Amino acid sequence: TSIRQMRMEDLQAMQACNLQNLPENYTMRYYLYHALTWPGLSYVAEDHKGRIVGYILAKMDEETAEGAPPHGHVTSISVLRSYRRLGIAKKLMLQSRTSMASIYRASYVSLHVRKSNRAALSLYRDTLGFSVEDIEKKYCKFSLFCCRLHAMLTRILDADGEDAYAMKLSLQS
Ligand code: ACO
Repeated sequence: TSIRQMRMEDLQAMQACNLQNLPENYTMRYYLYHALTWPGLSYVAEDHKGRIVGYILAKMDEETAEGAPPHGHVTSISVLRSYRRLGIAKKLMLQSRTSMASIYRASYVSLHVRKSNRAALSLYRDTLGFSVEDIEKKYCKFSLFCCRLHAMLTRILDADGEDAYAMKLSLQS
């Protein structure tokens, strides 16, 4: 397998890969939006026949407060089952992360992951050095109210009600 930048003609295969691997799915329009707006941030893994076996769909965060440094966000990453544990996701993450820093001067990368997703959590935390955004450290020392408010805002309640972690990796050396 090899890793390369995503091209327009990959979008359908990326969507197909996403549908096979994850319950969080997106419209073709949303893939297109990523491709047109941040062409350098999304990558695919292809096998020797050119089939897409993994992808990372990434963007720059658009809700950054004025004056705050720009940061990247991983919308979605997945690898087809029979290609897992070969280091593909790690390579996809590293490529995208490098481009976020070099093209957009991103100061950190953020993403959301379901609490029960052990494989992804291990990839982010143990392999790549992400940390779970620590609510206590940042907010609880000020007041319980802030802590609760922050927890409410950062928790994603999916359709099935599972919580997710908001994770972060600094890109400042
Ligand atoms: N169990 C424990 N640790 C794991 C696992 C696992 N099943 N898979 C990966 N890891 C960790 C290991 O530390 C691994 O290093 P090692 O193999 O040397 O031990 C490291 O992550 C790197 O693994 P990769 O081989 O690069 O990961 P892979 O290519 O298999 O892809 C992924 C990991 C993307 C999580 C894959 O399992 C997958 O597609 N899962 C379904 C989709 C998914 O959950 N995507 C993430 C959702 S969150 C989001 O998109 C922002």
